[in-house]
Parts: sequence; structure tokens; C-alpha cells
Amino acid sequence: MSLKHLLEKNRAWAAARTARDPGFFTRLSAQQAPRYLWIGCSDSRVPATEIVDLDPGEIFVHRNVANLAVHTDLNFLSVLQFAVEVLEVEHILVVGHYGCGGIRAAMSNRSVGLVDNWLRNVRDIRERYKHQIEAAGDEHVQEDLMVEINVLTQLGNVARNPIVQRAWRQGRPLRVHGWVYRLQDGILHDLGYQASSVDDLDEVHHILERV
Ligand code: CO
Repeated sequence: MSLKHLLEKNRAWAAARTARDPGFFTRLSAQQAPRYLWIGCSDSRVPATEIVDLDPGEIFVHRNVANLAVHTDLNFLSVLQFAVEVLEVEHILVVGHYGCGGIRAAMSNRSVGLVDNWLRNVRDIRERYKHQIEAAGDEHVQEDLMVEINVLTQLGNVARNPIVQRAWRQGRPLRVHGWVYRLQDGILHDLGYQASSVDDLDEVHHILERV
């Protein structure tokens, strides 16, 4: 199957963009200076730049199944290091979404293949909060809670990461936020917690204890 239609759409998009702002691509090609790092799910329905209505060049993006910030993931660590130390982003957004297939798969005990290894990270979190999750309500309520707990856990992982801690010790302004996106209405929800210094680590821990 030819993908000609995609290339045609690209030409039209670039032409419209240039018509609106003739210097747009020249400016962007010279330098990227995003203020945000987005750590989100690979789900095609949660495109980072588009849902916050920003332009190309404004968000540095890392996406994987179930928006995980795993300490041993070289890809994630490379993105984090580049974003924090080279681009000097001011905000790291950990963004989960309700209705996440990765979270759903991790909550079921059925095997889905290679991705089981990746989702093991989520299954470990589910086991840690098993009682709270089971007491939360029906299957959908449990799944939504698991999505939120996962975002807070990943937020904690980012905050505990040596790259982020080093930036804080140097007094750099850097905040880590936890958000959840709802597919049904396109709305992002702030889970109401931010980490902006090494001292906030205990707070992340307490929040998860209160779950
Ligand atoms: Co997802």
C-alpha cells in the first residue's frame, strides 16, 4: 500500500504552516529550546504536543507503553539526561491516561507476549497496592486508581533519579508533575502533586502511603 496520502498531507501542512508564519521552519531548524519534557504512553490517542495545543519545538517527548520511568531503561535515561542537562527543561510532565491498554494488561493475569516483561514493572506496583486497589470499587474504578498510582510512582522514580537530583542540588528550577488524560473528553487532570526539590521525595512517598 502506498503512503502517498501521508506525504501529500505533510506537504499541505508545511505549506499552511509557512503561510501562517514564514519564518517558522527556519527558526526551528536553527535550535530547539523546549521548556517541557513529556513522559507519556505510546497510545496513539495521546499525542503530547497536540493535546496541549503547542507547536513543534515546544515539548521534548519520551513515550513508551504505560508511561514508565524505569531506572534501568537506557532510552529513558538518555532522554532524561539530554532534557535536563542540555535542553535545561523547567518542567517534567509524567502523563498517564485512563483506559490505558498497558495498565489493563498488567492488571489481568493473562500473558500478552514480550511486553509482559515491560509490564512486570506495573504488575509490581499493583502488588504493592493490591489491598487499596481491590477495596476501591468495581473493575473500572480499580483500573483508574491503578493509572493514577502508576503516574505517582513514575513521578517518584523521576524525582529520585540522580540526574534530576543533581539538577536540584545545583539549584536549578525543575518541577516534576503528575497528570492523567481522559480519552473520553480530551481533558488533562493534574493529580495535584509536584516535586521540585530533593526535600519533596518524602512527600512523594507519603502520598503513595495514603493511597
Ligand atoms: Co496507554
